[in-house]
Amino acid sequence: MKNTFEHIFENNKAWIAEKLSTNPAYFENLSKGQSPEYLYIGCSDSRVTAEDLMGAEPGQIFIHRNIANLIVPTDSNVNAVVQYAVEHLKVKHIIICGHYECGGVKAALQPSDMGQLNSWLQTLRDVFRLHQAELESIKDEKKRFDRLVELNVREQCINIIKIDHVQRMWYKTGFPQIHGWVFNIRTGELIDLDLDMPKEFSDIRKIYDLKPLG
Ligand code: CO
Repeated sequence: MKNTFEHIFENNKAWIAEKLSTNPAYFENLSKGQSPEYLYIGCSDSRVTAEDLMGAEPGQIFIHRNIANLIVPTDSNVNAVVQYAVEHLKVKHIIICGHYECGGVKAALQPSDMGQLNSWLQTLRDVFRLHQAELESIKDEKKRFDRLVELNVREQCINIIKIDHVQRMWYKTGFPQIHGWVFNIRTGELIDLDLDMPKEFSDIRKIYDLKPLG
């Protein structure tokens, strides 16, 4: 049996051949630049492949993935991604996509010492604490887990609108619009949580409106 690495390079050759067979200029076009309309922020989970589940082609979606699709205000990685997407790519939509059966969310429901993951998961545990009454009223463990996945998406959408680059562009142009989705890994279905983000922002603007200049 061939090792995984050999396999990957063989797959790559087959992929190139497939792309070129339908469009000989495929890679030439790709190399010219990108102007994606979407920034997708999702989980690193190997089963949640952003482009596949959206049927998207290279060039259409700017992507950032981390454990449990979190927007942590001190994370310079996600801040840089959001700034670049908003200011330079001028994306029209930012999508936060969680997924059922998320290992990160599950870990947050079970207090334990997880080393380096402790500080990362703290953001999720904060979501749990913020919605503790609702979550603990759900007796079915699986449903409670699903609900935390959904509430986490909502809270991360709220975290996105706290970011100055996002507010600055939104005041100027009305974009980006923020969307909260959940990927149902049990069925393959993509669910739009239909969050009313302008209302969410007006509810919290007394606290978080930065009235950014420029
Ligand atoms: Co996950």
